[in-house]
Amino acid sequence: MAQRHGRDRTARLTAAGRLPGQAEGRHIERSGRGRTVHGEQANAGHRVLAPDDAEVEAYLEVALDAPAPDRAPDDDAQSPDSVLVLDFGGQTAQLICRRVRELHVYSELLPFDTPWDEIARRAPRAVILSGGPMSVYEDGAPHPDPRIWSESKMPVLGICYGAQLMAHHLGGDVVPAAKREYGPAVISITTEDGLFRGIAREQPVWMSHGDSIVSPPPGFEPLARTASTPFAGLADTDRRMYGIQFHPEVVHTPAGRDILRNFVLGIAGARPSWTAQSFIDSTVADIRAQVGDGRVICALSGGVDSAVAATLVHRAVGDQLTCIYVDHGLMRKRESELLRETFERNLGMNLVMVDARERFLRRLAGVEEPEHKRRIIGDEFIRVFEEESARMGQIDFLTQGTLYPDVIESATPETKAAQKIKTHHNVGGLPADLRFKLIEPLRYLFKDEVRVVGTELGLPETMVQRQPFPGPGLAIRIIGEVTAERLETLREADWIVIDEIKAAGLYRSLWQSFAILTPVRSVGVMGDGRTYANVVAVRAVTSEDGMTADWAKLPYDVLGKISSRIVNEVPGVNRVVYDISSKPPATIEWE
Ligand code: XMP
Repeated sequence: MAQRHGRDRTARLTAAGRLPGQAEGRHIERSGRGRTVHGEQANAGHRVLAPDDAEVEAYLEVALDAPAPDRAPDDDAQSPDSVLVLDFGGQTAQLICRRVRELHVYSELLPFDTPWDEIARRAPRAVILSGGPMSVYEDGAPHPDPRIWSESKMPVLGICYGAQLMAHHLGGDVVPAAKREYGPAVISITTEDGLFRGIAREQPVWMSHGDSIVSPPPGFEPLARTASTPFAGLADTDRRMYGIQFHPEVVHTPAGRDILRNFVLGIAGARPSWTAQSFIDSTVADIRAQVGDGRVICALSGGVDSAVAATLVHRAVGDQLTCIYVDHGLMRKRESELLRETFERNLGMNLVMVDARERFLRRLAGVEEPEHKRRIIGDEFIRVFEEESARMGQIDFLTQGTLYPDVIESATPETKAAQKIKTHHNVGGLPADLRFKLIEPLRYLFKDEVRVVGTELGLPETMVQRQPFPGPGLAIRIIGEVTAERLETLREADWIVIDEIKAAGLYRSLWQSFAILTPVRSVGVMGDGRTYANVVAVRAVTSEDGMTADWAKLPYDVLGKISSRIVNEVPGVNRVVYDISSKPPATIEWE
């Protein structure tokens, strides 16, 4: 691979790091077909759910009715060992993938009805059938391509519904249980074969299944039982078919990781070559091949996804990348400086910082309604982005920080519908003469993997471990009209919240912590005089994914410090309240 820009860096072109479907030079080009109206706008009424800097994509989507991007079907080149998970609609199907990846084996989630030829083409080391909410006998119950039973020479592990499917299709007896077995149980391992190797005989596990296997298919032997089922685990070891009627992927099954390890590394013999470094090496090599001599732009938001995506592209093609940062004036204190410091000074990237603060403020003047604010911000962002990229002449590629959960094709109709909203990650809003090919280097990664890659790439912790921040920024944390003065008030109050949360060592344990400027004014006393000033609310929540959240039980002394510093240091604020609502029924943001 030719060196660029005189840098002495050679990516290891190992097959090990390349992903299935990440063939060299493959790119995704947005179709030039007419735009169809695609349901509601990405953030109409509710938000794009992916937090953090999904915001840049959200901006690029907003105000548009753009079709989902045409993505070329994944064509496999050389690939690392992988395990495919077929998604039968279980809530923890994604989690199975993540657990396999934690073993450093690449794993992908595919729809339950993926044709056998497609599975075989990807040449995984094993297939896992996820759980699912239905009974194998129900109308419309999902079934896999039957050739998985007859033609697969690779190991198959069925989990719960997946195990029942296996038993049902291979000639065992599965009966709908009178009552769904749900919750903790204890299994007794009766056969210590490869799956349960090295695991204590009595094991707490997490059950969640409706049907039950009452007699195994020919060739299968029981491996484990519970008080209520004699076939908590079963296998035909000759054909390397395994079934378990409990969930190894959840934390309530403490030996779950060992069981998955036994299956993935032991029975399937997969090599644990999926590491952040191997990912970086292969991705950098692929981007180089894809971009050639082309020019790339990337919209930086200040969040971790666009930061990591840009850094990967920069590592691959150096100065052929230009990052655009639109400073809409709605960021937190010192964030624009941090961004410049990280990308321009430390990483030596071409960075165009656009000071658009005035224009955003002008357009937001007099606007109080939150959705209206969002639309204006999204729309204005696109205008600025367009203007800047047009100024730069010929640009061939646009880098986006799309993550794996946004591109997974889900199994159920509901998730397919949700998917439509989430996969609007494209450049549909840009004018026809600005056609970019997309580079989405993170489209195979989960969020936690992005952070690991970011750290490995040398990004500062302040960037990599950043709490999520909504795209429209402080504008939606000011209730009512956004003005320069109110922004300043909120920025100062917010800074104090973060400062004290960090000082107390709580920053990383919280999903988010921030201040809200309410429109409420109340009477206070300061010195000898009465005041009539704003109320600031403080919000801190814990959450796994932002979909649900608990208000954080912050220590009183931390709350006390935050409160006294805000009223003493921020002009125009005389009262601080703490939000003790969880989501649902509240949301995280106030708006
Ligand atoms: P709510 O307020 O709906 O927020 O409970 C859930 C999570 O989403 C974040 N959020 C956004 N993230 N663009 C984003 O990238 C947005 O427009 C946006 N709005 C809300 C919010 O901060 C929380 O983490």
